[in-house]
Amino acid sequence: MRHLMNPLDFSVEELDKLFDLAADIEKNQSKYAHACDGKILATCFYEPSTRTRLSFESAMTRLGGRVIGFADANSSSAAKGESVSDTIRVISCYADICAMRHPKEGAPMVASEKSRIPVINAGDGGHYHPTQTLTDLLTIRNLKGHLDGFTIGLCGDLKFGRTVHSLINALVRYPGTKFVFISPEELRVPDYIIEMLKDKNIPYEEVIRLENVMPKLDLLYMTRVQKERFFNEEDYVRLKDFYVLDAAKMELADKDMLVLHPLPRVNEISVEVDDDPRAAYFRQAQYGVYVRMALILTLLGLAS
Ligand code: NCD
Repeated sequence: MRHLMNPLDFSVEELDKLFDLAADIEKNQSKYAHACDGKILATCFYEPSTRTRLSFESAMTRLGGRVIGFADANSSSAAKGESVSDTIRVISCYADICAMRHPKEGAPMVASEKSRIPVINAGDGGHYHPTQTLTDLLTIRNLKGHLDGFTIGLCGDLKFGRTVHSLINALVRYPGTKFVFISPEELRVPDYIIEMLKDKNIPYEEVIRLENVMPKLDLLYMTRVQKERFFNEEDYVRLKDFYVLDAAKMELADKDMLVLHPLPRVNEISVEVDDDPRAAYFRQAQYGVYVRMALILTLLGLAS
């Protein structure tokens, strides 16, 4: 039995197979409409979510399966003090696969150790968000044709953004990747990531001004400042509008540069950018459903 905790749990070859399956699902949806008949997905969300939870539910429903779960820790027995280990033992009796989001880093991992069904980490604190990373990689692969050799700018909250940490981890395996980290001093990418890049000799630079680096980027990954992980409101208010990507800044970028964002967006991308053909974030959300369909099939052993 396999779980998905970290984007590195799948090899590059396994990811290629998963993305091929996602591409086939996109083209031939009716072929998969009953692939999970009789199967149940449990969504255990101890932290707010719209996209991730609904895209899992949509994925399982489109495969013919059913969904149970909770979207709020206060409506689960966690409010009575139950541990995630006990909760997952019980969920293992009710469902065939579980997607879990938790504010504590490592909680889905702890759950997976006691689980009798595959557990998918749907985001654990500021740590990882592997299914968003699968979504990001599929989007890049589908819109650019490959995954290697890109200069990617990651902009915004690089300290607390789990989607950023996951994506960096995944992209280091593709040859020729160069990172440009764009953040205010307070929201720099964590030291453990910088150390990892140094160890692997992966080129990176850290800058504060987005305008200066726009022309050299193949991909720009914008992120929201993670309000819920700040210790004080004042710092959040000071930093929240540090970056606003608008049409003027897009003029500095290459004509083929793609703008990605895991969403939800707050103010960091002005709505005027939405109509730019390089804005890929809503297509990205669509790919999130196909890749989760492919993941559910793979972890349930139903992918041929
Ligand atoms: C992200 C998350 O939850 O980390 N959202 C998502 O899953 N699409 C990004 C965010 O909340 O900023």
